[in-house]
Amino acid sequence: MTIAACAASSPDETSRAGDLAGGQTRLRKVPGAPNARSDPFGTPPDDAGGLLNDSTDLNGVLERDALEGACERYAAGAHDRRTTLLCGKAMFFDEGFGTTGVPKPIVTFLAQNFPDAIGKGFAKLGMIPDPRSTESLPLGLAPGKKFGSVDTLAFSCASCHFGRLPDGRYSVGAPNHDYAYGLQNLALAVLPLVALKGDAASHDPDAIARIQPMLDQLNRDILLKGRLVAALLPIGLAGTAPAFPKEAEKHYADWKPGTMDFFIEPLPINDHAHTVSKISPLWGIPRKAEADAASMPSAMLGWTGATASLENFLASFVDLGGGDLSKWPKERLAPLAEYIYSLQAPVPPRAVNVDALARGEALFRDRGCIDCHGGPRGGGLKVYSYTEIGTDAEMARWADPDLDGVLQDGLRFQPGDALTHGIKSPRLVGLWAMRLFLHNGSVDSLDEVFCSAGLRGNVSTKAFGNGGHTYGCDLSVDDRTALVTYLNAH
Ligand code: HEC
Ligand code: HEC
Repeated sequence: MTIAACAASSPDETSRAGDLAGGQTRLRKVPGAPNARSDPFGTPPDDAGGLLNDSTDLNGVLERDALEGACERYAAGAHDRRTTLLCGKAMFFDEGFGTTGVPKPIVTFLAQNFPDAIGKGFAKLGMIPDPRSTESLPLGLAPGKKFGSVDTLAFSCASCHFGRLPDGRYSVGAPNHDYAYGLQNLALAVLPLVALKGDAASHDPDAIARIQPMLDQLNRDILLKGRLVAALLPIGLAGTAPAFPKEAEKHYADWKPGTMDFFIEPLPINDHAHTVSKISPLWGIPRKAEADAASMPSAMLGWTGATASLENFLASFVDLGGGDLSKWPKERLAPLAEYIYSLQAPVPPRAVNVDALARGEALFRDRGCIDCHGGPRGGGLKVYSYTEIGTDAEMARWADPDLDGVLQDGLRFQPGDALTHGIKSPRLVGLWAMRLFLHNGSVDSLDEVFCSAGLRGNVSTKAFGNGGHTYGCDLSVDDRTALVTYLNAH
């Protein structure tokens, strides 16, 4: 017998969650069911407020008409739940917060002229083209701080936190593990300079290798090069712009899609520690009340658990991205926070074997997983040391490269945030839809996490290491399969 994913063990604990994209009805736990307290995966109440956050229909998810004007209505005092969520969603997709951006002419030049390497809407770099854009722009770029008189495009949340699930649904909050952020940086910042100056030899060779096909295209096509000059002219970038440090270029070339170090160029901050993070899912982030009730020290956001709350995360995003926090006080960011809190992992499409599910659940409890993953949605209640977990330890230096407990110059935290030099156990929902595992994305499947898909290999390059967290690896193959079945069901 098979039942739908995330089903509870007895029928009276389940309810129908409605139709999903596949037309199948799933079973979900009723919030507050008798065993919900001890079950980290007890489903929180559906507070999506009627918004469509995952579907195969991209325009349906974007629901632009409904979003139109929502933030104006919110600003004028309409704080009802629907208006709040619609405003938050509009911000998620289309707000640049006045942060530092990339000159728009370079973005459009790239998006329109390199069908094979970049693609319209940066599709070849894993971004999702904006179906409404007449300039071939992707979703996730929004007007940023002006560069002189030139328009720029800055990140909205959607570039990294809006992705496609394996079943074809688009999902808000899904980590976009297709997104080749490093290569995009090379295309935006290194390609134009090298194409015009012909100084490839003074750049990182791996970086040059990544953009070589585009360089070749520019060198072959004099008209194309002319268009590049025209795009750069208003910026005055051609002769004067500083290139990124070679070291940064090398990092851009090395990062897998879906991973990055946020605290180096092109952002206006640098913590002088090379740490690699996979993009996190935003599903099921606990509110303060829930974190308190679970005895978490805070919401522990970010891989090191340094950020105390989603509200703090948003403020830091604006502040460290070069925006002006006095224009973005908490009240103005509140709709975005509310909207993100409303995002829950999409129900998996696969029907699962109940026996394996029950076996996996028992193993999760009996084999100690729950000791570290017993908080809301399978997240942990504290931060662990890298020595204990054994995963790549470079992340310990995040924001504090010399590990002296003092935040690196130029960085600022929000009140309540604190360096941990450790690693949190992440929430374990939506794993079925994820392509990268462990904090640095060094592991490519859940089977591999539990050492089932052969050995993990033995990558030990600093920041990219794929060792550690071998919990479960000693189980029998059947047990590991059951554990994966259980994890994939939430
Ligand atoms: C360019 C890619 C990128 C953009 C844009 C981006 N993020 Fe992230 N986000 C990441 C990465 C990478 C991480 C993991 C960072 C870490 O913890 O080391 C992350 C982590 C987070 C987390 C922590 C989640 C957790 O459970 O620990 C939150 C919350 C978050 N992002 C919210 C946002 C919001 C809201 C926006 C828009 C205002 C945004 N992000 C824009 C890449 C991005
Ligand atoms: C001692 C605490 C501890 C135990 C025990 C533990 N985990 Fe973890 N788990 C963590 C930490 C910390 C991380 C983050 C490690 C990293 O990313 O480097 C993690 C990461 C994971 C991930 C990767 C999630 C992601 O988004 O990449 C999975 C899956 C996971 N644990 C499942 C399990 C299962 C199943 C068990 C039991 C067999 C288990 N864990 C036992 C602490 C623990």
